[in-house]
Amino acid sequence: MLEMKTIVVSTLVWVLLLRTTAFSDQSFIFNGFRGANLSLSGLAEITSDDGLLRLTNTTTQHKGHAFYPTPIRFEKSSSFSTTFVFSILSEYPDLSSHGIAFALSPTTDLPGSLPSQFLGLFNNTNNGNSSNHVVAVELDTILSTEFDDIDDNHVGIDVNDLRSASSTTAGYFIDDGGFRNLSLRSGEPMQLWVEYDGTDMRLNVTLFPVGAPKPEVPLLSKTIELSKFVLKDTYVGFSSSTGSIITSHYILGWSFKMNGKAEDLDLSELPSLPRIGPKDKPRLLTVGLPVILSAVVFTAVMISGIMLWRRYKYAELLEDWELECGPRRFSYKDLYQATKGFRERGIIGTGGFGRVYKGVLQNDQREVAIKRVSHESRQGLREFLAEIASIGHLRHRNIAQLLGYCRRKGELLLVYDYMSNGSLDKFLFDKNKQTVLNWRQRFHIVKGVASGLLYLHEGWEQLVIHRDIKSSNVLLDGEMNGRLGDFGLSRLYNHGTDPQTTNVAGTLGYIAPELPMTGRNTVATDVFAFGAFLLEVACGRRPIESSDEVMNLVDWVMDHWRKGAVMETVDARLGSDDFVAEEVELVIKLGLLCTHGVPHSRPNMRQVMQFLDRDIELPDFSMDYMNGGVPEHDRGFDDFFMSTSSEQAFFWSKNRCSLERSLM
Ligand SMILES: Nc1ncnc2c1ncn2[C@@H]1O[C@H](COP(=O)(O)OP(=O)(O)OP(=O)(O)O)[C@@H](O)[C@H]1O
Ligand SMILES: *[C@@H]1O[C@H](CO)[C@@H](O)[C@H](O)[C@H]1NC(C)=O
Ligand SMILES: *[C@@H]1O[C@H](CO)[C@@H](O)[C@H](O)[C@H]1NC(C)=O
Ligand SMILES: *[C@@H]1O[C@H](CO)[C@@H](O)[C@H](O)[C@H]1NC(C)=O
Ligand SMILES: *[C@@H]1O[C@H](CO)[C@@H](O)[C@H](O)[C@H]1NC(C)=O
Ligand SMILES: *[C@@H]1O[C@H](CO)[C@@H](O)[C@H](O)[C@H]1NC(C)=O
Ligand SMILES: *[C@@H]1O[C@H](CO)[C@@H](O)[C@H](O)[C@H]1NC(C)=O
Repeated sequence: MLEMKTIVVSTLVWVLLLRTTAFSDQSFIFNGFRGANLSLSGLAEITSDDGLLRLTNTTTQHKGHAFYPTPIRFEKSSSFSTTFVFSILSEYPDLSSHGIAFALSPTTDLPGSLPSQFLGLFNNTNNGNSSNHVVAVELDTILSTEFDDIDDNHVGIDVNDLRSASSTTAGYFIDDGGFRNLSLRSGEPMQLWVEYDGTDMRLNVTLFPVGAPKPEVPLLSKTIELSKFVLKDTYVGFSSSTGSIITSHYILGWSFKMNGKAEDLDLSELPSLPRIGPKDKPRLLTVGLPVILSAVVFTAVMISGIMLWRRYKYAELLEDWELECGPRRFSYKDLYQATKGFRERGIIGTGGFGRVYKGVLQNDQREVAIKRVSHESRQGLREFLAEIASIGHLRHRNIAQLLGYCRRKGELLLVYDYMSNGSLDKFLFDKNKQTVLNWRQRFHIVKGVASGLLYLHEGWEQLVIHRDIKSSNVLLDGEMNGRLGDFGLSRLYNHGTDPQTTNVAGTLGYIAPELPMTGRNTVATDVFAFGAFLLEVACGRRPIESSDEVMNLVDWVMDHWRKGAVMETVDARLGSDDFVAEEVELVIKLGLLCTHGVPHSRPNMRQVMQFLDRDIELPDFSMDYMNGGVPEHDRGFDDFFMSTSSEQAFFWSKNRCSLERSLM
């Protein structure tokens, strides 16, 4: 019987002991909160993906609570120890919403409490009332003057009241006695220890950066008899609140133990914080996505802008008939690159039609002269293009090779072989030019140009009228060969739709007298201009010297010829060294013959060549002949000077293209 009693008693004692130890040893640890059984209210949640305890999300003016679901037994001499890692991630680095409080509370949701500066702990009626039974350690990031806060980055001990019983700027003491500030809202994870010793009734609070050793000296140390304030069964957990600034409050891990030291957190097991900030996903949507989108849009706009600009920059005009005409078309882009963007430095001359640029074709490194001709008339242009399409096929050593063309809105680009010595007029008239052409060179050039013009008139399948022979259109290659350039270009300025009634073309002083009346460019008008050119070369004078007395070169030489003093007209700069008087006289006389007032009386280019080569002696034509009569000594001369007026200039037409292709 007695034994029975002892068994019952000992069982009771054991059960009681078990009960007390069960309470006194209460402890838990959360290295991350995945699957943790916590009592959550308000905004608080455990993030499903990484197991963070998020007390508040980005909703402003709200609170969140997370408490251990079962209360702890807090008796008169109870001690506790707890530690947790937290992070306050704010939209702005220097501002944040309120903060986090570790709390001993009679409830898990603190009903009636307010967010913002009340930290979800109290409201304005119960703040400071001892019937709250709340003791908290606040991590406050806002200076609330109504609660006598010391600053906007402090740690405080709150007993039923947001007016902290004790508070200090966040930071930690290092072991040599120094102090380091910490910014609670830095977003960096930090660790806090809250330790209470029930025997000497001291509450210590220690803050330090995660990973650092726990400082020896606590940040706050307050003597307080907690059992007088908190309930016997009290919940432990966190309260947090947001104000008007978007902030998230995170707890990464938490360890708690009654009557003993809390187990250390395993930092390696703690979940990592969202990378961008507290508003990871929202930020991705509200900031990241627009940034990415605008970057994409910006790039797209840039690329299409560049493409449009390139299209505009390299824009060309191309019509069906040009495709038919075929092959001699350059892309504007190629010409643009060849001239390095048509820069000023590349200009080698300016003529009546526009600027001439030097360029190097990218594909074959060929040096070219590119003439930019502005045009507005489509009609003349069409004929001209048809003509150059075929002119491109002309090959002669005394013709400046037209390599091709390119057409854009309002302008035409003509690509020629580059002539390194420029145009003849510079040598004849440019006072700055040091080199004076000697007679041998001049005669060589004259013969070359004559042969080039003969080729145009007779050497090819079809007659080509040059229309603008003059010294500035005679280009000199590296070996000082004269080459005719610019043929047909004057056509551009003949806007008449009927090619048979073209307007006067050419340059004053080179225009045959019948041209203004007939308005027709013929072989004979070309010969007239060539005659003026001969006189130009021999006399070293422009066909019309505008300086002093306005004198037509042809008339001036004719006057001298009549006086029998033709040799007085010879260019004074011609030295006597290789001066061949017979040749000079021949050239001058031939010049006069070619500029005969009556077209029928001018020689043709084949005869001109024969005279220059001295295959035929120049007839000793009389004054009468030059005045419009027939040659006295040679009746057959008239047959020589076969009529050219009936020969109309060949006008390339659209039909020419098909002919052209059959020739190729
Ligand atoms: N193929 C070329 N190679 C080298 N230089 C050239 C070439 N074509 C033209 N030039 C230079 O550009 C200058 C201007 O040429 P352009 O033919 O446009 O004018 P112009 O013959 O003086 O007058 P117009 O245009 O009335 O015939 C020439 O004087 C010459 O110096
Ligand atoms: C969480 O803890 C409470 C209190 O101990 C208990 O009633 C509840 O069943 C637990 N929930 C889970 C999912 O474990
Ligand atoms: C914050 O959490 C609350 C409660 O879970 C939810 O209703 C709200 O939509 C969340 N806000 C944001 C911005 O995620
Ligand atoms: C303040 O909080 C207390 C206790 O939670 C509650 O009873 C009271 O209604 C609240 N007062 C206001 C004004 O919300
Ligand atoms: C404290 O709160 C209790 C209960 O809510 C109330 O009866 C009492 O009057 C309050 N005391 C003060 C000083 O406000
Ligand atoms: C730490 O913070 C306090 C309060 O804001 C300030 O007065 C002090 O200068 C700071 N110390 C350092 C080292 O930044
Ligand atoms: C609190 O800090 C003081 C002074 O650093 C120390 O003597 C005491 O042991 C600490 N108490 C606890 C419970 O950590």
